[in-house]
Amino acid sequence: MMKLNPRMFNISSKKPIPVDEFIEKILYEPKVGYYSSRNPFGKNGDFVTSPTISNLFSEIIAIWLISFWEKMERPKRFNFIELGPGDGSLTKVLLNTLKKFPEINKAIRIYLYERSEYLIRLQKKNIDNKNIKWINNYNSIKDGPVIFFGNEFFDAMPIKQFTYKNNKLLEKCYSVKNKFSINETFVECENNEIAKIKSFKTLKNLKFIEYPKKGFLELNPIMKKISELTGGILLIDYGYLNSKNSNTIQAVMNNKKISISEMFNNIGKVDITSLVNFSLLKEYFSKNNLKVKRIVFQRFFLERMGIFERAKILEKKMSSEQKKYMTETLNRLLGEKQMGKLFKVIFGFKYKKNKFLGFD
Ligand SMILES: C[S@@+](CC[C@H](N)C(=O)[O-])C[C@H]1O[C@@H](n2cnc3c(N)ncnc32)[C@H](O)[C@@H]1O
Repeated sequence: MMKLNPRMFNISSKKPIPVDEFIEKILYEPKVGYYSSRNPFGKNGDFVTSPTISNLFSEIIAIWLISFWEKMERPKRFNFIELGPGDGSLTKVLLNTLKKFPEINKAIRIYLYERSEYLIRLQKKNIDNKNIKWINNYNSIKDGPVIFFGNEFFDAMPIKQFTYKNNKLLEKCYSVKNKFSINETFVECENNEIAKIKSFKTLKNLKFIEYPKKGFLELNPIMKKISELTGGILLIDYGYLNSKNSNTIQAVMNNKKISISEMFNNIGKVDITSLVNFSLLKEYFSKNNLKVKRIVFQRFFLERMGIFERAKILEKKMSSEQKKYMTETLNRLLGEKQMGKLFKVIFGFKYKKNKFLGFD
């Protein structure tokens, strides 16, 4: 038996609620949802992300962006959209890096796409730059190629879960009873949902299926924009290539993983994510006419982009304390058992060339 006050989160007790709808409420319900009420990032928050661990990571993304702009023959107008910018750390470093490259600095328009009002306020405070625009759709972007970037954006989008019982596909839901208790239950799915899931090769022969319906809905207007204007989407996330066939939803509080029952006892104070199925993402990009050359480990990408060379340059002006700190952060970003292998990088694109830095 788990406890929460469903009314606070606008959760109805009339019928079972699919997993993704339930998580959506507890993460984003205005004022009380996890992302609507706090700054979760950093050592004093609940988790750290690559841009909050190290400026080097953000610098490398800036260099990758510049290299892509060059590959596209230096268009006079060029759009960069950061998806889910968190506390704004990456864009802050990006702006500083671009100052050293006047031609792209003049061409680029930077947009931040963020749904949490709380985090928008934090980003505005941290970035403090009049040229940045916060957007909640992409309609105002009308000319010049587009590059979308998201670090740990896709894994923050609640997923659906399904399983087969007696050859029938059933969706995992939560039912809220007696006002305060939550129970897991499985309900029959609608035919169009079943047809959609069955259309993915990556999901064939699985007994337990995770399907990022909300994530795909977010991708639809992005892929449309890329098709219209050319460009691509670079996503970095904690994820896998071979289907897990089991639950990958996880909850984190105070930089520690916690169990599902602890999660229910701390609703609104816990981050909930799931691992990204990169093969499924690739299949979705392909279905929508975006090319993907390959999916690589974060370590591979950052190394190819010259993270060690950049670290050596920075080291020259560092104290021994600073050097020690940089080595520790590099180990976190690149370590095999840390983010180096657990995190993957995918680039879905529409452009006539297909050789890009970081992937070859
Ligand atoms: C795990 S955080 C990552 C933050 C940042 N990219 C980083 O690496 O530090 C996820 C971010 O995506 C935002 N987000 C999640 N779902 C979103 C959506 N549907 N639309 C816009 N932003 C969203 C969250 O509010 C948060 O800023």
